[in-house]
Amino acid sequence: MSKHTVTLIPGDGIGPEITTAMRRVVEATGVDINWEIAEAGAHLMESVGTPLPESTLNSIRKNKVAIKGPVTTPVGSGFRSVNVQLRKELDLFVNLRPAFSLPGTGARYQDIDLIIVRENTEDLYAGVEFEEGSPEAHDLIKFCADKGAGAIRSDSGISLKPISITGSERVVAWACEYALANGRSKVTAVHKANILKYSDGLFLKVAYEVGARYEGRLEFEDRIVDACCMGLVMRPEEFDVLVLPNLYGDIVSDICAGMVGGLGIAPGANIGTEYAVFEPVHGSAPKYEGKNMANPTAELLTAVLMLRHLQETEAAERILGAIREVLAEGTAVTYDIKRVNTGSTDGCVGTSQYADAVIERL
Ligand code: NAI
Repeated sequence: MSKHTVTLIPGDGIGPEITTAMRRVVEATGVDINWEIAEAGAHLMESVGTPLPESTLNSIRKNKVAIKGPVTTPVGSGFRSVNVQLRKELDLFVNLRPAFSLPGTGARYQDIDLIIVRENTEDLYAGVEFEEGSPEAHDLIKFCADKGAGAIRSDSGISLKPISITGSERVVAWACEYALANGRSKVTAVHKANILKYSDGLFLKVAYEVGARYEGRLEFEDRIVDACCMGLVMRPEEFDVLVLPNLYGDIVSDICAGMVGGLGIAPGANIGTEYAVFEPVHGSAPKYEGKNMANPTAELLTAVLMLRHLQETEAAERILGAIREVLAEGTAVTYDIKRVNTGSTDGCVGTSQYADAVIERL
């Protein structure tokens, strides 16, 4: 019997290619993982009728740990995001998105080492929405007017932004525990509490209550989200661990990903008390599907996070070291990295050849 069984979800678009590359690299370290392949994605809609079959959820529930490629979500209509469904179904309340500098990426910033902890289950992503013109939207607009809560235009669509004490408490506590366990010294709670007094205001109040429990062990501060964005790009050294409600976390983590070289190298993890689902920040990049062009680094770094979670630290650090070497050498790199560094994609390698180069340096 293998030491670990992990659910592997290839996903859509470039997902199958980058997860294949990831699997080859992880296996080359000698870590004993039994991969249980489970499907999710837009490609299942015709054959199975759902992008997230119950069997896939059950596989994750059984194995507790999953790693996935990206999944396509139709914009504006169609099915709800598989990722949002997974986070809700498995109560994966933390979205961990580290942003750290790697050599050879052509990134505008060097020496970045930031941890983004994004709340994953509530805020504007709670999925409580009312379509423009629907009876429900009409009722809600009338309710707000009747209660003197404010006038909403009659032709509005409405998305609610619920933020709870429970949701805020557990994500801020997780961020503080992560900071302590990983030798970090400061946690910054990010919000817009000056305007959104009852949602972000509550998040901020709870954040300070939690932060107070860590007095003497961690520095705890807050920033308003817009000022935080400016601060990040002007003086990133002032930040360490950031904890944010869902929407700001999504946006700020992409800013941080951009600072260190872009989506092709940004890893992520969705973590709850029982389950963890690891996935890169980027999407399914449909235009590169099947072309052996996508950069698998984000998926490989996502595997590094997973291996640390599985306490396979040595394998995790070997993969990270090998990626650093390949990127620093700059020859066997994918089109995106080559283009940033040389202004042309000439001489780039494909997804699987990049994985070969990483394996050679393990
Ligand atoms: P995207 O991340 O797929 O692409 C944005 C840009 O980055 C494109 O130019 C793309 O070609 C490039 N890119 C992304 N990953 C890359 C990689 N590994 N190597 C090289 N270049 C890469 O975002 P987009 O276009 O907004 O979304 C495409 C689909 O992915 C949508 O259906 C979206 O809903 C879905 N998506 C899924 C996510 C997930 O499953 N976790 C996360 C984000 C988007």
